[in-house]
Amino acid sequence: MSGKVFFSVSMSLDGFIAPESLGDLMGPQWMELQRWIFPQRFFRENLKLGEGGEEGRDNDLLRETFERTGANVMGKRMFDAGERAWPQEAPFHTPVFVVTHEKRDPWERPGGTTFHFVNDGVEAALDQARAAAGERDVRIAGGGATILQFLNAGLVDAFTVALSPVLFGGGVRLFEGVDADRVALEPVHAEPTARVTHLTYAVRQR
Ligand SMILES: NC(=O)c1ccc[n+]([C@@H]2O[C@H](COP(=O)([O-])OP(=O)(O)OC[C@H]3O[C@@H](n4cnc5c(N)ncnc54)[C@H](OP(=O)(O)O)[C@@H]3O)[C@@H](O)[C@H]2O)c1
Repeated sequence: MSGKVFFSVSMSLDGFIAPESLGDLMGPQWMELQRWIFPQRFFRENLKLGEGGEEGRDNDLLRETFERTGANVMGKRMFDAGERAWPQEAPFHTPVFVVTHEKRDPWERPGGTTFHFVNDGVEAALDQARAAAGERDVRIAGGGATILQFLNAGLVDAFTVALSPVLFGGGVRLFEGVDADRVALEPVHAEPTARVTHLTYAVRQR
């Protein structure tokens, strides 16, 4: 039995998951978007930032999301940003399938993350990710353009948004161009913490 296909992102209250320019990543809005993650024990352990950290529900959800994931899929813009920002031991610890037009050999990092560059579209990337994930789930890690293709192709089973208390006013909008005639949602779980509100939906086809 293969696992589920899901995504899990932080979203601003006005619907954005990143600034438009990768040059603005790490700017004040991005830091506010992701602020709930930085103090968490799991995040600190995974990036080897040191001992300690918060251990509440935000931490549990981060850990659970990581543990259920057997393979990741991401777009080239997310990869490009991460290639500069991730430590040598990239934080995925699974095979990662990067959908891209660029031809490139697999890039193996210490700690179990190998990036594979897939040139024949999201379905091919998903086939490879499912095979790599075994019984665990496939996470569509981002960014917006890649998630949208999976959603519109009916390939996403469920997703979680951590709704952050920040307004972007512009940027990469998570659901820009969604095929709303096709994609329907069913609420599964809503959980506010002191930092964000975690919203989980199952995806249905209309
Ligand atoms: N808030 C969060 O939780 C969160 C999570 C993840 C990512 N992000 C952010 O999201 C931003 C990136 O999102 P994005 O929407 O701009 O870009 P993206 O989805 O990461 O990447 C889009 C690029 O991937 C390649 N690609 C996508 N689909 C393809 C296909 N079917 N065939 C071939 N190539 C394909 C293309 O690049 P090429 O033509 O160059 O190959 C395309 O321009 C980053 O800033 C990242 O940090 C935020």
